[in-house]
Amino acid sequence: MKSFATLAALAAAIVPSLAGPTKVARQSKGNLPPVSVKGNAFFAGDDRFYMRGVAYQPGGAADAKDPLLDIPSLKRDIENFVDLGINTIRVYTVDNSKNHDEGMKLLDDAGIYLALDANTPDYSLNRETPQTLHRSYNDVYLQSVFATIDAFSDYNNLLLLFSGNEVINMKNNTVAATYIKAVTRDMKQYISNRAARKIPVGYSAADVAENIEQQALFFNCGTEDERADFFAFNDYSWCDPSSFTESGWDKKVETYKDYSIPLFLSEYGCITNRRDWNEVKSLYDTNMTGVYSGGLAYEYTVEPNGFGLVEVNSNGDIEPNEDFERLKKAFEGTKNPSGNGGFNENGDASQCPPEDEEWEVTTSLLPSIPEKAKAYMDDGAGDGPGLEGDGSHFAGEASESTATPGAGAPTRVPSGQAASGNGGEGAGVSIDVPVRFLGMIAASMVFGAVLVL
Ligand SMILES: *[C@@H]1O[C@H](CO)[C@@H](O)[C@H](O)[C@H]1NC(C)=O
Ligand SMILES: *[C@@H]1O[C@H](CO)[C@@H](O)[C@H](O)[C@H]1NC(C)=O
Repeated sequence: MKSFATLAALAAAIVPSLAGPTKVARQSKGNLPPVSVKGNAFFAGDDRFYMRGVAYQPGGAADAKDPLLDIPSLKRDIENFVDLGINTIRVYTVDNSKNHDEGMKLLDDAGIYLALDANTPDYSLNRETPQTLHRSYNDVYLQSVFATIDAFSDYNNLLLLFSGNEVINMKNNTVAATYIKAVTRDMKQYISNRAARKIPVGYSAADVAENIEQQALFFNCGTEDERADFFAFNDYSWCDPSSFTESGWDKKVETYKDYSIPLFLSEYGCITNRRDWNEVKSLYDTNMTGVYSGGLAYEYTVEPNGFGLVEVNSNGDIEPNEDFERLKKAFEGTKNPSGNGGFNENGDASQCPPEDEEWEVTTSLLPSIPEKAKAYMDDGAGDGPGLEGDGSHFAGEASESTATPGAGAPTRVPSGQAASGNGGEGAGVSIDVPVRFLGMIAASMVFGAVLVL
């Protein structure tokens, strides 16, 4: 819808740009060539880069710890990564108060990149209600995210950063989209100001059938500084025995054939039946590589949810299981396509998806960065809170109101109001875009105000 794109452009023109960056002298660490984005593909130097990865989350999601700090276990696991034939691991939680030189060098030496989630369970958006969502987009949260960027941006083998993981996990919480996209925008801005190179930032989505396509479009629409650098989704829809056409993956390729940023599977590997990993053959075949850039098999260790490629014994020893051997074989038997795999170099930004029953996002305007977080853009984030801090969900100060184009002078949301749950209070006072839930201000009014301009 054209009006959406126009709105976003207007917003970008009106919101003042942040003060000039102060770059710090930085030394890049590692020998692997940094990966960058060109069109809808990743490139390592001149070569197309396909992610052949595994999710690395020993202990499972419930036991959030940083697996890159446990050096003896990491050394042991890297031997398996090499044996398996992967080039990437995904890590969901890191301790941003600690130095990661040793673990990142071990990975670099083994030819392995890191796909890293910038959030931790305590420093993240809180999607429980629209009010907690708004409240949790605050300066204390962003300080942690930015500190994670500082802690990892010098490593050449930092492949990319996830600005969120499965935040939208149902039909009814798509309102989170503008907040995740705001975080994506803020991370990109921070990297541009503070890091030595452009590190790709994007979102890892849950495969919610009703709105996954809208999510993909939304993160790739709008202005350059707001659009994600890539989009990824977790896809468990290929359950062996299956095929490219039976799984419906052929249809997905068709759906995203014009998508203009890299797309990959941030998790895959259905365990309904025995995993033969037949999807690997398709994922790295020209059937898909014009649109997809590989993916991350879920997951390394066997946890209570029943996925996993290595068993962890009670004494801490690990043993690759048959799943591991089959995945290894699948990788061995699947070469990357020659040349550039048919990628699309010059795609256009997507059109923002229109609001509908499955997509309750009334505007592509994003909430403004929380006022107090702006200082980090110039001065750096300082020390990260690590995994011990008090958490950010109700800390700091949330994003204040933004001067909505045409709605008069900027006004401030009195502190706490946004979180109060008294939805009606926002009416006529100020608009924190998007304000579907804060308020009484109907979308049509917001648009109306803009269109007067
Ligand atoms: C979404 O629906 C589920 C039940 O289906 C409910 O538990 C949850 O609170 C709802 N979330 C929001 C943000 O309304
Ligand atoms: C590629 O697509 C064709 C046509 O849909 C299909 O017959 C073939 O099995 C696919 N090959 C792979 C490796 O996915």
